[in-house]
Amino acid sequence: MENSSLDPKLLELVKKLEAKYEVMGQDLTSYLDGLLYSDYLTYWDYIHLDTLLSLQNPKTHFPDEKIFIIYHQITELYFRLIILEIEQITFDTSLSEEMFITRMDRVIRYFRHLEDSFDIMTDGMERDQFLKFRMALLPASGFQSAQYRLIELCSTDLINLVAIDSRKDLDSKSDLGKLIEKLYWRSGATELKSGKKTLTLQQFEEKYARTFLETGEKYENCNLRKIYLKHFPDSKEVRERMREFDTLANVLWPLAHMKSAARYLQRDPEDIKATGGTNWQKYLPPRFQKIMFYPELWSDQEKNDWGKAAVIKALG
Ligand code: HEM
Repeated sequence: MENSSLDPKLLELVKKLEAKYEVMGQDLTSYLDGLLYSDYLTYWDYIHLDTLLSLQNPKTHFPDEKIFIIYHQITELYFRLIILEIEQITFDTSLSEEMFITRMDRVIRYFRHLEDSFDIMTDGMERDQFLKFRMALLPASGFQSAQYRLIELCSTDLINLVAIDSRKDLDSKSDLGKLIEKLYWRSGATELKSGKKTLTLQQFEEKYARTFLETGEKYENCNLRKIYLKHFPDSKEVRERMREFDTLANVLWPLAHMKSAARYLQRDPEDIKATGGTNWQKYLPPRFQKIMFYPELWSDQEKNDWGKAAVIKALG
C-alpha cells in the first residue's frame, strides 16, 4: 500500500510511535512485526483467571472450607484496594482536598462492602463443618493478615496502635522500635505472666517484623492522620470522612468479624479456643482494645463508649 492511501490519522500515529521508539534507540518496524504475530488479548488471560481459580487448596474434604478460603482471599483483595488508595493519597505531591475526599470515599466504600458481606462467614457455613476443618488449620489465623496491619500502620501514628495498658508509658515521641514492640496485637498474642508469645505471633513476626518496622518508618510523617491534620485540619467534610473510616475500620468491621467468632466458638460452659491462641473474648471486642486512628475527633464520652453504640444497634 502506498503512503498516500494511508489514513492521515494512521500516518500521524505511526509518526508519533516512531518518535517514541526512536528516543529509546529502538526500531519501530521490528515492534510492528511483533504486533503482527502476537495474539489478541483475552479476558481470561488479562485477569489471570486460571491462576486465580487455582488458588483455593483446602486442607480437608469439607466443601465449606472453600468458602472460608475464598472469602479470606476476597478480603485480602479489598485490603489491597484500600492500601492502593492510601498510597495514592500519601505520595501525591500536590494533594487537593477534593482528591483526598475522593480517595477516602473509595476506602470507606471498600470497608463498607467488607462489613456488609461478613455474613458470608457468620451465616454462610455449616458450623459442624467449620469446627472440623478449622482444626486442620492450626496455628494459622486471620490474625496473621499482614495487609490488615499495613492498613493500620499507614492510617495513623504508632502511638494510637499501642496496647491500651502501655499507652500511659509511651507517647508519640517515643522511640519507633519501642512503639512497634508494644503494638496492641503483639500484646494480645502474648501471655502476660510469662511473656511467652503464641506460635501464631512468633511465625507472623518471623515473616513480617522487618516489613512492619520499615512501614512504620515510612509512614511516620505521612500517614493519613498526619496528612489530614497538616493539610485540612479545619475541613468538616474531611473530618466526617475520617470519623467514618475510623468507625468502619475499628468498630464495625471488627464487630462483624467478632460475630462470626461468637457464632462458631461460643459454647457453654466453656468457649472454644481460637486457632491463633488469643483470648478472643477479651481480644476481639473494640470496647476493650479501644483502637482509634483519630482520637482527636471523638469526645471523651464517645471514646469511653467506643463500640458500644454499634453493639446496641446490632442487638436492637
Ligand atoms: C468463621 C470465620 C472467622 C472466625 C471464627 C475468626 C476468628 C478469629 C479469632 C478468634 C481471632 C483472634 C485471633 C486468634 O486467636 O486466632 C481472629 C483474628 C483476626 N481475624 Fe478472623 N475469623 C474469621 C474470619 C476472618 C476473615 C474472613 C478474615 C479476613 C481476612 C479475618 C481476619 C482476621 C484478622 C485481621 C484478625 C486480627 C484482628 C485484630 O488483631 O484485631 N478473620 N479471627
